[in-house]
Amino acid sequence: MKTVAIIPAAGSGARMGATMKKQFLLLGGKPLLAHTALNVASCKQIDAIILVAPGDELDNCQSEIVEKYKIDKVILVIEGGLTRNESVSIGFDNLPGGTDYVLVHDGARPFVTERMVNDVIALSQKYGAATVAIRVVDTLKKVKEGIIQSSMSRDDVVRIQTPQCFRRDVLQHGLATASRAGLVNTDESSIVERLGLDVHIAEGSETNIKITTYDDLKIAEALLGMYS
Ligand code: CTP
Ligand code: MG
Repeated sequence: MKTVAIIPAAGSGARMGATMKKQFLLLGGKPLLAHTALNVASCKQIDAIILVAPGDELDNCQSEIVEKYKIDKVILVIEGGLTRNESVSIGFDNLPGGTDYVLVHDGARPFVTERMVNDVIALSQKYGAATVAIRVVDTLKKVKEGIIQSSMSRDDVVRIQTPQCFRRDVLQHGLATASRAGLVNTDESSIVERLGLDVHIAEGSETNIKITTYDDLKIAEALLGMYS
């Protein structure tokens, strides 16, 4: 079974508001995206990686991430699109022949582990689609204009993370259907759910954070210190 990872890393990092796009900010002296790509590359079940990057950072990605950190599993660095789904679609359109499963993992989530990768691959091999998610520990409320409307049961909800893994034809169908409908989603599980297919859940982790703001970067520095 051939599994190829697509790492969407073509965003602009608007919420970070840094002069440099967040995926290239240094974490422990190494670009954030290098951490992510190295961790995905270290997974035995991942055969190849497609890195989807901003158009003006393709050379930088190739030399300062792929070559500098010798991430040999990266077979392609390619320019992404305006939305995350578009970036993943571009990666998908460039999958090598013989790809059976496609793992998608956010470039901005550096602490992915092999256990999570193995779990979503195993579930997608069994069911076609899988994602990691974590339980919600806070109390949840519905709100409108700053006023609480009602309480929600946290037993019914999870927080979705990546990695997510799909049988190739499932993701192909989902991406094509979402694109035809003009839908924009913040992950690929959503587009497979819209097909009416079951997406199975593996355990994510509180440490598998997505770096969105400077606070996240500080937390990431602390996590790096704890685990290294
Ligand atoms: N992404 C992408 N192409 C886009 C938008 C996002 O490949 N057009 C990637 C990001 O680079 C990131 C992942 O999708 O690795 C998750 O997106 P997010 O955390 O929202 O990153 P940004 O879109 O860069 O940040 P922001 O929304 O704050 O601008
Ligand atoms: Mg975004």
